[in-house]
Amino acid sequence: MPIPATPFIWFNGKLVPWESATVHVLAHALHYGSSVFEGVRCYATPKGPAIFRLREHTRRLFDSAKVYRITVPFSQDQVNAACREVISANNLSNGAYIRPVAFRGYGEIGVAPKIEPPIEVAVAAWEWGKYLGKESEAEGVDVCISSWQRVAPNTLPAMAKAGGNYLSSQLISLEAKRLGFAEGIGLAVDGTVSEGAGENLFVVKDGVLLTPSLAHSVLGGITRDTVMRLARKQGLEVRECSIPRELLYLADELFFTGTAAEVTPIRSVDRIQVGAGRRGPVTEQLQSAFFGLFDGRTTDEWGWLDYVDMQAKPRIAAAG
Ligand SMILES: Cc1ncc(COP(=O)(O)O)c(C=O)c1O
Repeated sequence: MPIPATPFIWFNGKLVPWESATVHVLAHALHYGSSVFEGVRCYATPKGPAIFRLREHTRRLFDSAKVYRITVPFSQDQVNAACREVISANNLSNGAYIRPVAFRGYGEIGVAPKIEPPIEVAVAAWEWGKYLGKESEAEGVDVCISSWQRVAPNTLPAMAKAGGNYLSSQLISLEAKRLGFAEGIGLAVDGTVSEGAGENLFVVKDGVLLTPSLAHSVLGGITRDTVMRLARKQGLEVRECSIPRELLYLADELFFTGTAAEVTPIRSVDRIQVGAGRRGPVTEQLQSAFFGLFDGRTTDEWGWLDYVDMQAKPRIAAAG
């Protein structure tokens, strides 16, 4: 999916023109994967553009940085402000995807250099539609179990959203797409279900919602948390547990969650039809509650919507 350029990117504290937000080819992160990042959505709501669960995303960015001992030279409030600023300065009122990233920049070479390279921070945003295709929301997607397993515990920290961790996701997703599937699911090191290459996974079985626990090498997804809360609010039983692979074939319903994927039904796994082979009623009910947050049908009783002041004056770096 090409990235539609916007006028500005927030880079190390200031808005700079899109094409000026560049890094050196010897930046540490480019060689050793030492970046941490977020994917955040901003929705067009009846009360104007609102960033969904911004504080939680920024907290996770800082948590990921903590695991990799990256000291972000800005506060969480400053990163939150930067996310709002890229929406208003770029006039992204129709909904957007926001990408904050912090990384070890250009300094010494070496995995663990004596002098810490400068930590660079950027926040970009652009208009973005459905990640897994427009029809997927109702029809569902076809997925496979990857021949690549997810990272084992105490190898790479799955709870940290770090650039290097996404080599695992790339292997899983590239293989799935090469074989004609929309996405791949990784198994944990014990052979139980972990998650999609960039999505958490939910099973509906006999009216109960099941999802792999954080001990199964999954990212603690913010959409995962959202869906669990919405489900419990609707009186559904939710269990975080260990899920055997075959339960995916035998599920009544399956769906992915993620900032990019939102709530996407899965209609087949390894070409075995799941349930009715399209979106099931529980998935539809949860999708409705989820998307209702953005069109006003679901009351935002958690304060998850962070409205953006589109009139705010952007702080643009001086040219040169
Ligand atoms: C590996 C992985 N798992 C799960 C998710 C879903 O997380 P979230 O709902 O916070 O976007 C993502 C996306 O960020 C991801 O990359």
